[in-house]
Amino acid sequence: MTFNFGMILDMVVCLCQGVSDKQVREAIAKGASTRKNVTRACGAGAGCGGCHESIREIIRAHRAAASESKEGPEASAGYAPAPAAALA
Ligand code: FES
Repeated sequence: MTFNFGMILDMVVCLCQGVSDKQVREAIAKGASTRKNVTRACGAGAGCGGCHESIREIIRAHRAAASESKEGPEASAGYAPAPAAALA
């Protein structure tokens, strides 16, 4: 048996509609900021509702990543660069 580790598999988030995490992330990247918006954009969550929390989790992860990229890695690490005068 041979595995292709270079291949990235999408994870199905919504079984009812057959929507992957990639499709949900694409919907979020295009502006869907709530679970209902994601459902309108790609269909995920339009059935039984069992995936709603997973969709919300992807939205939260997207917001956290966007927030971190705005603040920079130092901000999320809890430290800031020392001013040059403090090092003299
Ligand atoms: S699994 Fe998404 S609506 Fe049922």
